Amino acid sequence: MERILKPTADDTWLFGMDSSGGQVSGSRFAISNGFLGTFDAAVASAGDPVAVPTRTYVAGLFDAVGPDGSMTALIPAADWLRLHISIAGTPLVRQPFQRTVLDVSRGVLMTETRAGSLLERGLRLVSLHDPSVGLQLIELGIDEAGLEVTLEASVDLSALDLEPQRIEHDLGVWRTRHSGQALAMAVAAALEIDGADRTAATPAPLTWSWSWTSRAGQVVRFRRAAAFVRSDAAHFDPGVKARDTLNHIRRIGWRSVVEAHEAAWASRWHSSDVQIAGDAEAQRAIRFAAYHLNSAANPADERVSIGARSLTGEGYHGHVFWDTEIFLLPFYILTWPEAARSLLLYRFHTLDGARAKAARMGWRGALYAWESALTGAEMTPEHLKDQDGNWVEVLCGTQEQHISADIAYAVWQYWRTTGDDRFLLEAGAEILLETARFWASRAVPEADGYCHIRGVIGPDENHEHIDDNAFTNVMARWNIRRALEAAEMLQQRWPQHWSGLSGRLGINEAELREWSGVAERIFTGFDAKTGMYEQFSGFFDLEDIDLAPFTDRTDPVEVQLGQERTQNAQIAKQADVVALLALLPEAFPGDSGLRNFRYYEPRCSHRSSLSPAMHGLVAARYGDTGMAMRFFRQTAAIDLADRPGPVDEGVHIAALGGIWMLAVFGFAGLSVREDGIALDPRLPEGWDSIAFRVQWRGRCLYVGAHRRSGVVEATLEEGEPMIVTIGGERREISRDQGLSMRIGSNRHSRA
Ligand code: BGC
Repeated sequence: MERILKPTADDTWLFGMDSSGGQVSGSRFAISNGFLGTFDAAVASAGDPVAVPTRTYVAGLFDAVGPDGSMTALIPAADWLRLHISIAGTPLVRQPFQRTVLDVSRGVLMTETRAGSLLERGLRLVSLHDPSVGLQLIELGIDEAGLEVTLEASVDLSALDLEPQRIEHDLGVWRTRHSGQALAMAVAAALEIDGADRTAATPAPLTWSWSWTSRAGQVVRFRRAAAFVRSDAAHFDPGVKARDTLNHIRRIGWRSVVEAHEAAWASRWHSSDVQIAGDAEAQRAIRFAAYHLNSAANPADERVSIGARSLTGEGYHGHVFWDTEIFLLPFYILTWPEAARSLLLYRFHTLDGARAKAARMGWRGALYAWESALTGAEMTPEHLKDQDGNWVEVLCGTQEQHISADIAYAVWQYWRTTGDDRFLLEAGAEILLETARFWASRAVPEADGYCHIRGVIGPDENHEHIDDNAFTNVMARWNIRRALEAAEMLQQRWPQHWSGLSGRLGINEAELREWSGVAERIFTGFDAKTGMYEQFSGFFDLEDIDLAPFTDRTDPVEVQLGQERTQNAQIAKQADVVALLALLPEAFPGDSGLRNFRYYEPRCSHRSSLSPAMHGLVAARYGDTGMAMRFFRQTAAIDLADRPGPVDEGVHIAALGGIWMLAVFGFAGLSVREDGIALDPRLPEGWDSIAFRVQWRGRCLYVGAHRRSGVVEATLEEGEPMIVTIGGERREISRDQGLSMRIGSNRHSRA
């Protein structure tokens, strides 16, 4: 146990907290594997020693909540980590812990508390090897002899918003109240005193208790394993499977569970670690980001996706937004294609929900839910309370429609990067076609000869009911064009498949021609004379406010100005035209990209956590590494800086995806091309080098860029020869022949 309870030596992998630091969000230290997510509301606190409950979420376990049942939310499972220790009948408060360390290299949370002559050291994990398994290990060191110690481990069955079906000594099976899902949890607990296992008293179901008299220098080891199974089928009892898993763990032993988990993490880190030399803070930030990204996905379950706070907190109720496709998918596509595939299949399985939404609103094709849960039905609440406690209407569920193009964008990037034709044939093409069909019906031809998309919200949610949002319209045009490209490719390469698919969807040549006409005539708001996109019709006529005097205060700009003035001003809540520039730089001819960036960057309040990384990525591409680095730090601080606020909302997983994008697409200048991977690095001051692996069409490529020497290296570690383009020069590399090129060191900080 000694090795297992010891953190890694290199502290760029460690995120710690001790009780002198005040209360800190427990979600930062969450452990998750894409199926289970466990966190404490607070893991360390200098305040009163109150016991803080631990919360575990199970991906996909949604139910209707609230007084009228109109909201669907992730439902927490029972707390399987409850532990009470008492001495001579007096309870020892074990939480908040005095010291907490998250070791991201192994995906484990370690805790330590000393109470009198007792030192409690703990470790918990949810297995990355077998996502249904959680493990808790505690080691107690007791200095004093003759103490009457009681240790009681239990599963907290109180305050559960689930209906119990079966509660037995080692098993609980529950059903959600409305959604017809079931959850089983099988638990085993054991205690070893002085090297020998002790039999537990079991005073209640899912409760184990031991009492003994201590001796000086005694070491007591507690271990608990839990197996979780979710079932979406009405008549399937998941209890049997949960018990089977637990029996398997008993057979292989807890050490094997730890080893398999550590091996799975080592493998994820091998594929996804980004090494930054020269800037330990940036190194930590990107490891923290990659830790949560690796923790959030579960390639084995294509019925779920990643919510806006992943499984680390209750913010946004587990709902899935465009965050997943635009901010997270790039990481998965390039480092974990199996996870990317599964996340996109979730969108395939929820296509019917998207078709129903489009039909209900009078359009054709598929309009995805702005907030999605299990079925793909729209989950955005229609009203929410604002900061003053007033109910306000939420229009995103009806008006924020760019989500359909964002999903199509991710489908295409996945297919293009992985070459996974089977995915395209079985799922991707249908998503592309149905979303294109939506846009073709949504963009309406008007007397001026253009097709307009009126009455939407773009990524900038400060402005509602707007017409011709440049982001939406250009992404929609791109969506239609990629669908037409896919249709043509299917006709040529897989004609039989095309005839089946087009027959099933009722798509004929006339309809494809109609789509093509809409794409040609869609209004984009681009003025060829000025090179500017207007964020939406009328944006340039709104009040132009210098945001500088507002940004130092704690209140967001929007709150200082008030809603009405904000709506009538050129203030974007987050990257909008800038997001378009990040995603589709080819839509910005000549030097218009930089022009747009210079115009829109100072007009953004960054009220959304999604915003700074997008800006940083674009700034880095233009060589303004100083500005890009400011955005990098701003993004890193979102989850890593200590600040008062809600403690259990969860990490901002899109911002964490954004950090990875900023480092890889921005500073390393990586882009995916038809013929391979291109790199155009511009490293910021203080970074000596950056190195990471990416996957491209079955190959594994290791790349590194060095700031001072200007040397860029690429090594093909797996797969057939491929083209790597560095600083504009195309070269073929193979497993025998890597590449090392000097691209000039002075380019890095071009501002
Ligand atoms: C942002 C959206 C985002 C959502 C979930 C909102 O505040 O404006 O763009 O999808 O949060 O992260």
